[in-house]
Amino acid sequence: LVIGKRGHGDAHTVWAAGGINAALGTHDPEDDWTIHAADTLVEGHHINDPDAVEAVAKGMPDRIRDLAEWGMDFDRTDGGRINQRYFGAQSFRRTCFVGDRTGAALLETLVEQAKQRSVPYRENLLITRLLAPAGRVEGAVGVDLETGDFVVFATDEIVLAAGGYSALYNRHSSRAEENNGDGPVLAFEAGAQLQDIEFVQFHPTGMVGDRYGAAWDGRLVTEAVRGEGGRLFNGAGDRFMKRYAPDQMELDARDVVARAIDEEVAAGRGSDHGGAYLDISHREAAFIEERLPRMDERFEELGVDLAAEPVEVAPTAHYSMGGVAIDFETGATGVPGLSAVGETVAGVHGANRLGGNSLAETVAVGVHVGAAVAESVEATTDPALSAAAHRQARQTVTGLRALEDRRGDPDLTPAVGLERLGAILEDHAGIRRDHDGLTRGQARLADLQARAETITVEGDRTSRAFEYAVDLSFGLVLGEVLLEAATRRSESRGAHYRRDHPAVDDAWRQNIVVTDAADPRFETRAVGAPSPAVQTALDAGYELDYHHLE
Ligand code: FUM
Repeated sequence: LVIGKRGHGDAHTVWAAGGINAALGTHDPEDDWTIHAADTLVEGHHINDPDAVEAVAKGMPDRIRDLAEWGMDFDRTDGGRINQRYFGAQSFRRTCFVGDRTGAALLETLVEQAKQRSVPYRENLLITRLLAPAGRVEGAVGVDLETGDFVVFATDEIVLAAGGYSALYNRHSSRAEENNGDGPVLAFEAGAQLQDIEFVQFHPTGMVGDRYGAAWDGRLVTEAVRGEGGRLFNGAGDRFMKRYAPDQMELDARDVVARAIDEEVAAGRGSDHGGAYLDISHREAAFIEERLPRMDERFEELGVDLAAEPVEVAPTAHYSMGGVAIDFETGATGVPGLSAVGETVAGVHGANRLGGNSLAETVAVGVHVGAAVAESVEATTDPALSAAAHRQARQTVTGLRALEDRRGDPDLTPAVGLERLGAILEDHAGIRRDHDGLTRGQARLADLQARAETITVEGDRTSRAFEYAVDLSFGLVLGEVLLEAATRRSESRGAHYRRDHPAVDDAWRQNIVVTDAADPRFETRAVGAPSPAVQTALDAGYELDYHHLE
């Protein structure tokens, strides 16, 4: 049974745009999976799980072939091979694509396969708690967002594939009501460990609301625009990336480009509306229409011709590198009956994710998780809830009933609470952080947590207010872990940049792992070593040569 918070076939994946990585070597025959793995480790700043990285890089060529066989309409070269484009900080053209709607095409293909296999689906269902009274997940409780009915499941195995937490920031690239941390927090509260939560990716090129309207603020301008040659300019017309990354220019890693834009704006050299200009007008209109159809259409609707003028962009919270700690061979979380996959988990991307590696992770790891779970449920009989799980379900339902139509502090609705949480994270755990700011953020968060006890929810269980109240409860847990982990990591690494500790500290080549949602315990864990084959690729020192694009 697939349970979706939204309608069937409608998931955040539809917004993944520019592509999916696999070392096919269509244009660059010297590329292979070891170099894909090496690029992933280098840009993850060596705190990725090397086995997980290897499993993704090695598995991807076969996954792309499966998807193509199942009808995913990848862009092709004139010779009929799957086309590949440049994406940031990758040594070779490795990103396969369907125009700039790769995630939507991937999802359509997989949903069709699920339909052919008659996989049942339950739509518009918000899961609020996993039932694990004795250290094993036995089921889950949720609310049907259309009818308001409570739904209780008894389960053999749950696989959480419920996204990350980047939408907790006010300026983000996610869909409005998704990626609020529910996936990681559901697992954490059921006894799983969280890892690397301090690492949040800011994509350099989000749309600027003051220029295109508030509804567009933070929405993604795909990295494919830069992969196809797009250039960044500051307000003075200077192509500033030559000062920050002369070799890789606009296609350096996302953290580098995002910090560069941030720095230009802070120095008073931003675009008219507080960002930078992204310009691909040196490309022919027909090329843009073919390679970037969605961007072309979106900006045309906004009165902007990409073939004639630049667009204004600024960094936006885009992806959570942190999440649930899992075993990548099976997806197991360490809590019997619970696995996880996708943006909900940590490990593949380390301190900074390569564009095109998130879709890759979902299918490359997903295939192993699916196989492991299928094997495990074959050996079980029909699931049933224990008396203790029934009690937990009843308590959960009582708590949810108390939330609807609740009258408390009239100034604190769930929407206001989420807005305040977003501001705390933006102000104190954004692109640049420091100890004092993080400490102030923790105090603000503690205050919000206390006030949230008396929140006002004007709406029944089918209302957005009710849904937001649940989102806020997840977000507050996640935000607390994020701020504490970011405070502890006293170095700069990938997407975690500390003004007061601007250098990488080798002693911090470790993961921060958090255990016990009731009384969180923060520990560090050493990172494993890559295999000899990947180490050879690392030693060879491959890197993108931007000037191929000139
Ligand atoms: O910019 C993009 O198209 C995003 C891709 C990704 O995050 O993998």
